[in-house]
Amino acid sequence: TIRHFLDLSDAGTAAIAAMLADAKARKAARATLPKGAPDPDRPLEGRTLAMIFEKNSTRTRVSFDMAMRQLGGTTLILDAGTTQLGRGETVADTARVLSRMVDAIMIRTDDHAKIVEMARYATVPVINGLTDASHPCQIMADMQTVIERRGSLAGSKWAWFGDGNNVLHSIIEAGSLMGFEVVAACPEGYDPDPDVIGTATNRGGKVTLIRDAAEAVAGADIVVTDTWISMGQKHAEAKLAAMMPYQVTTGLMAGAKPNATFLHCLPAHRGEEVVDAVIDGPQSAIWDEAENRLHAQKSVLLWCFGEL
Ligand code: CP
Ligand code: NVA
Repeated sequence: TIRHFLDLSDAGTAAIAAMLADAKARKAARATLPKGAPDPDRPLEGRTLAMIFEKNSTRTRVSFDMAMRQLGGTTLILDAGTTQLGRGETVADTARVLSRMVDAIMIRTDDHAKIVEMARYATVPVINGLTDASHPCQIMADMQTVIERRGSLAGSKWAWFGDGNNVLHSIIEAGSLMGFEVVAACPEGYDPDPDVIGTATNRGGKVTLIRDAAEAVAGADIVVTDTWISMGQKHAEAKLAAMMPYQVTTGLMAGAKPNATFLHCLPAHRGEEVVDAVIDGPQSAIWDEAENRLHAQKSVLLWCFGEL
């Protein structure tokens, strides 16, 4: 069977643990190598990853490109606007054509149904580089970062502030797979998808929705937020106003555990979801988190290719 990585549950607990261990080992092993130099074992030599972007990206684009180079493979970057996909060729037909020419496909798109369709018709692995519903690659990097800071994931408490969006959905899924608790503090009308919470709790995950930010942060090991307006959403003053009580400030951080870590997938909107004193402060792990996109995705690629 083809190993698609559309969501974290496609891999499951054991494979995610193996990927995180591999990411840690590869990161340590190449600490003194130039970033463009391959890992000595070049496990993906001869393989090409095509990346389709229907939305902007800095981290996902650069980290997958460098990941393939470090693993000994190559990449093709396809801007949806300049391919036939942008002129109405179907996702299914695109999947069938690309599968004849490349070894794997990463896609960043709006509607999650498109990536499901891509996986259905592709005969090579398909990787989710963000949809409106989820962002599993990001949470692989977040988990690697938390392991670096705390030693383990199990038993930690992650508190989310702001919009109930794609990134939160993948955190909730991750918590239920890897044994950490998720508390989400979102304003009314901006809760995460109840189906995502339902799936997580059915799996034994601990997920709580709390309206009050101060209550939500109590006892948190991880404080995490994201933009209030995701790509493809309208910039609405009413939404920004509703989000304001969930801004991550030094006062909010003070309510978490003393050594709590701050995470943000980036790009940040400083002065909106987080203030400078927190994102640039001593508890912030955002640059390690961004770097870990590279290391974590190398392990995702290796898993997709059956090397893990
Ligand atoms: N965090 C993240 O996915 O960043 P990009 O949008 O820059 O890829
Ligand atoms: N929630 C954000 C994440 C960006 C990496 C978005 O979808 O735009």
